[in-house]
Amino acid sequence: IPPPPLYYSPFPTGQQNPAAMKNQSWSFPSNFFWGVASAAYQVEGAVKAEGRGPSVWDVFTHRVTDFIVGNATGDIADNQYYLYKQDIARIAALGVPYYSFSISWSRVFPFGRGEVNEQALLHYDDLINTCLEYNVQPIVTLYHWDLPLYLQNLYGGWLDESYTDIVNDYVEYARVVFSRYGNKVQHWFTFNEPIVFCGEYPYPENYFKATSVPVKQQPYVCGHNFLLAHGQAYRLAKSMGINGTVSFKNNGAYRIPLTNSSADALATQRAWDFNEGWFANPVFINGDYPQYLKEYVSDFLPEFTAEQKAMINGSADIFAEDAYTAQFYFAPSNTIEACVANTSDPLYPGCFNTTYTYSDQDGGWNIGPAADPAAPWLHKTSDWLPAFLHYIQDTWKPREGVAITEFGFGEPFEELKTIRADILSDPIRSSYYHDYLEGVLIALSEGVNVVGTIAWSIFDNLEWAEGYSVKFGMQYVNFTTQERFYKASFFEYVNMFKTYQQGS
Ligand code: NOJ
Repeated sequence: IPPPPLYYSPFPTGQQNPAAMKNQSWSFPSNFFWGVASAAYQVEGAVKAEGRGPSVWDVFTHRVTDFIVGNATGDIADNQYYLYKQDIARIAALGVPYYSFSISWSRVFPFGRGEVNEQALLHYDDLINTCLEYNVQPIVTLYHWDLPLYLQNLYGGWLDESYTDIVNDYVEYARVVFSRYGNKVQHWFTFNEPIVFCGEYPYPENYFKATSVPVKQQPYVCGHNFLLAHGQAYRLAKSMGINGTVSFKNNGAYRIPLTNSSADALATQRAWDFNEGWFANPVFINGDYPQYLKEYVSDFLPEFTAEQKAMINGSADIFAEDAYTAQFYFAPSNTIEACVANTSDPLYPGCFNTTYTYSDQDGGWNIGPAADPAAPWLHKTSDWLPAFLHYIQDTWKPREGVAITEFGFGEPFEELKTIRADILSDPIRSSYYHDYLEGVLIALSEGVNVVGTIAWSIFDNLEWAEGYSVKFGMQYVNFTTQERFYKASFFEYVNMFKTYQQGS
């Protein structure tokens, strides 16, 4: 095993302790929400406890061989189902004011529909009440990819072509959760990252009931169901008069044309349309899909009725973006014909190519401190993030502002660290959080209505298909003993708010 690289120094060359470098003209508003995040299947464990039914992720981790790195599962994960009190105490001890987590649908409805499992609700009662006792505000996501397996096999889950069964079952689940916790949660998210559960994970027939929807059309059937379910859940929440904002978590990256050619500008616009715009345009602009989606996948893009468009349009209070990084876009060709001819993947018709500016250290997710030869002006996150936040505000005009609902860093080589001092020292992640929040402060100072930031993640956990091989935690977890340890980046993250938040 090679030793960890030598570039681990506490701060990049020339930097001081950030508090000492405070820029007097920057500040986070006093009502800015900030915190840390998790998701049920990634942290809870206890998959057979207290009446939980299986979800599609139990199949991915248990049945589909080699789908997950190391054939890891979420059976135990961080055992948060049992350790939540100490986990909340640990974040409260650092002064973190918000905890964003998801509720497991297949705990509340073991079969996805029908009988409610009261034991599960008692568990989430206590999770939420414990947060409130510690003065940590809960932020709740209703669906973070863990569909009750029964619904997958009953009618294909999100591939339900009736566009009613999955929508009705989801909305019923939402109703139960809203009515139980509606007055205790300041921010609700109906769904996490629809592009991922609609576009990235296949439902192989050997493991799930066969669907009649051709593979190429599946993302769009799923996306259509998502938009209908989200829109209805939003309208339901408002009709119930629940407190708090209601939105969904979109995800993506800042998309930068590689050159200033018109071909690259077009490639970049197509990328916006096929990523954020797929869901954001219907919700924030006009109830309908963006132009390039309609052009390139018109053969199988479902259509909304006028009534559905009106229901979906305007169905989010804030624009919530899980925004980790930036990407460059360039055009292999500028013509629609070439795009369509090139496509093998309907999600990414060959209309654009992408490249990350930097780096090979982290699988290409971060814009790090080193400059890329392709963009010598782009040194770190704060160089592009303000532009991204402006872009979101100007393009989708959310009524109650923009929130970064996830950002974080899977530090390379973390798994090679064996000495505790090294494990807890994560300077690249620290400088990522530092730079990123500087980018948010710059955007705020330029008038973008950024209302919150949530860091991914509260601690190391099951990184989906990557298993436990990629770690995003601001706390290290010893998965044998289930002990948690703060990493240095957690203090860096908190310190930025201690330094810059009004009234702190
Ligand atoms: C987004 C997802 O919502 C979360 O579940 C995942 O772990 C992080 N990104 C990191 O990949």
